[in-house]
Amino acid sequence: MVSRCANSENLTGQAQSRKGGASCQAMKLIIWGVGGLAQMLTELIESYPEWHLVGFIVDDPAPPEQFMGYPVLGNRQYLESLDPQAVQVVPAAYLPANREIMVIYLRQLGFDSPTLIAKSAWLSPSVSLGKGVMVLDRAVIQSQAQMGDFDLIHTGCILSHNVRLGPFVTLFAGATVLGKVEIETGAQVGGGATLLSTIQIGANAKVGVGSVVIQNVAAGTTVMGNPARVFSVPG
Ligand SMILES: CC(C)(COP(=O)(O)OP(=O)(O)OC[C@H]1O[C@@H](n2cnc3c(N)ncnc32)[C@H](O)[C@@H]1OP(=O)(O)O)[C@@H](O)C(=O)NCCC(=O)NCCS
Repeated sequence: MVSRCANSENLTGQAQSRKGGASCQAMKLIIWGVGGLAQMLTELIESYPEWHLVGFIVDDPAPPEQFMGYPVLGNRQYLESLDPQAVQVVPAAYLPANREIMVIYLRQLGFDSPTLIAKSAWLSPSVSLGKGVMVLDRAVIQSQAQMGDFDLIHTGCILSHNVRLGPFVTLFAGATVLGKVEIETGAQVGGGATLLSTIQIGANAKVGVGSVVIQNVAAGTTVMGNPARVFSVPG
């Protein structure tokens, strides 16, 4: 478990001690959520000395006292008592819509969120990253790919060259996105799915787990299967 700073609970910005060695100058982080994604992000954060996880918040009427050995500090209202300059908050939600709701709340309170890249992920130097992007273990992001703000790239995803993602996109574990694919805001791609090169996935579309998508998917549409067929359309 990571060592704790003596002043780790002081997140109000008042009387911040600068004593305590290098670990106490680390950026303090709170994870919002206590599910599987929060669990994986905890281990990712622990692998970087420049971040210092102080605990979790969760909107649960009966929250656990601890998660992964760290305190559960409260629900989202707890953030209102904190200085947004003293801590950043990680919105640990798989689904794009849930993550976006969290980020809207965080922005209203003035909180920033870190970009979290697992050490075992490989990103081409020409990749452009948005704010708050999360890239989990063994993901590969190739040349000239563009990420949007708060995208989540799960374990083992492969993004080929010139892929472009809008904000709040989720690619679940092992998804393969071939060259020049464009994925618009809030779309989600199921685990192990493959997207053929140059196709476009519309905003808030959903691709089923294991699907092979060979043509464009309209906004808000759910597709699944091999080859992927439309399962539902918006409205
Ligand atoms: C595409 C998806 C979002 C649709 O969710 P949904 O609208 O709730 O639909 P359901 O899961 O109820 O499935 C509806 C039907 O499609 C079928 N179906 C679901 N996913 C399918 C897939 N990938 N391929 C083929 N058929 C599928 C179901 O069997 C069901 O069939 P039925 O109506 O004959 O019983 C969801 O199935 C999915 O694949 N999500 C991805 C989740 C993921 O990848 N998680 C990984 C975490 S790392």
